Amino acid sequence: MSNNLLKGKKGIIFGALDEKSIAWKTALKCFDEGAQLVLTNAPVALRMGEINKLATAVNAPVIGADVVNMDDLKNLFEKSMEHFGGKIDFILHSIGMSLNVRKGKHYTEMNYEWNQKSMDISALSFHKVLRTAWDMDALNEWGSVVALSYIAAQRVFPDYNEMADAKSLLESITRSFGYHYGVKNKVRVNSISQSPTRTTAGSGVKGFDGFMNYAEKMSPLGNASGEDCANYCTLMFSDYTRMVTMQNLFHDGGFSFTGVTQAVIEQMEK
Ligand SMILES: NC(=O)c1ccc[n+]([C@@H]2O[C@H](COP(=O)([O-])OP(=O)(O)OC[C@H]3O[C@@H](n4cnc5c(N)ncnc54)[C@H](O)[C@@H]3O)[C@@H](O)[C@H]2O)c1
Repeated sequence: MSNNLLKGKKGIIFGALDEKSIAWKTALKCFDEGAQLVLTNAPVALRMGEINKLATAVNAPVIGADVVNMDDLKNLFEKSMEHFGGKIDFILHSIGMSLNVRKGKHYTEMNYEWNQKSMDISALSFHKVLRTAWDMDALNEWGSVVALSYIAAQRVFPDYNEMADAKSLLESITRSFGYHYGVKNKVRVNSISQSPTRTTAGSGVKGFDGFMNYAEKMSPLGNASGEDCANYCTLMFSDYTRMVTMQNLFHDGGFSFTGVTQAVIEQMEK
């Protein structure tokens, strides 16, 4: 059911890899709600070809960009504005990659070169996206920019490894850039801290199934699905959230504020 929440709005969606991706589900939802879209991902991800199915479904061009490359980002924004015939109203940054996790390095034995790449792709890239939009004056007033985060930025989840540090930085950039963009252009910048979700990036974390089951038992509403997250992102791009900015918004079925649940107590008593 569509409420035309995003009618007339134009947005760039980063990070749709396959149909499990949160960005993929968000693109579908935004399109349903009347938005015009540009899809983007790293050239290596585009070579998989999956994104073309989404592009057809949401009638959007695909413009490749490595999110850490400022020339790629400039080209992406230029081409997007050409395509839309004007400025942009919303951006989803749905990107995460950890080399130390991927290569099985324990947090205490971190490879610092890999760490710099992980931080660049997973956190600093958000600054680069915002900076490019800022320099090119690419966002309309009351525009909305959302990044995706995880509660390991606030609490320790040992196997989340260096991504915990990346998410802390991502959330800090959200606040700092959110301040400046709010003052300059009334653009709002937020992060959504999502429940564990079965995607390519999510499943890369060691012990993911245990992690997911634990979160399910610890959340009064259960885990928020990728579809639920897509709905929340869509709402954040709509005019119903115009005064929300610089926030890290927990979208986790209540996990973040739950000390313990009856289900976990019963499990412990077994
Ligand atoms: N899945 C979860 O459990 C979960 C929970 C909370 C937050 N998140 C966050 O949600 C976001 C989306 O992840 P997802 O779970 O949908 O997984 P996903 O694997 O589908 O998406 C990650 C995306 O990042 C892209 N990417 C990686 N390097 C890039 C680069 N250099 N340039 C451009 N794009 C690049 C990948 O191509 C991919 O499309 C990430 O920020 C992730 O940390 C995921």
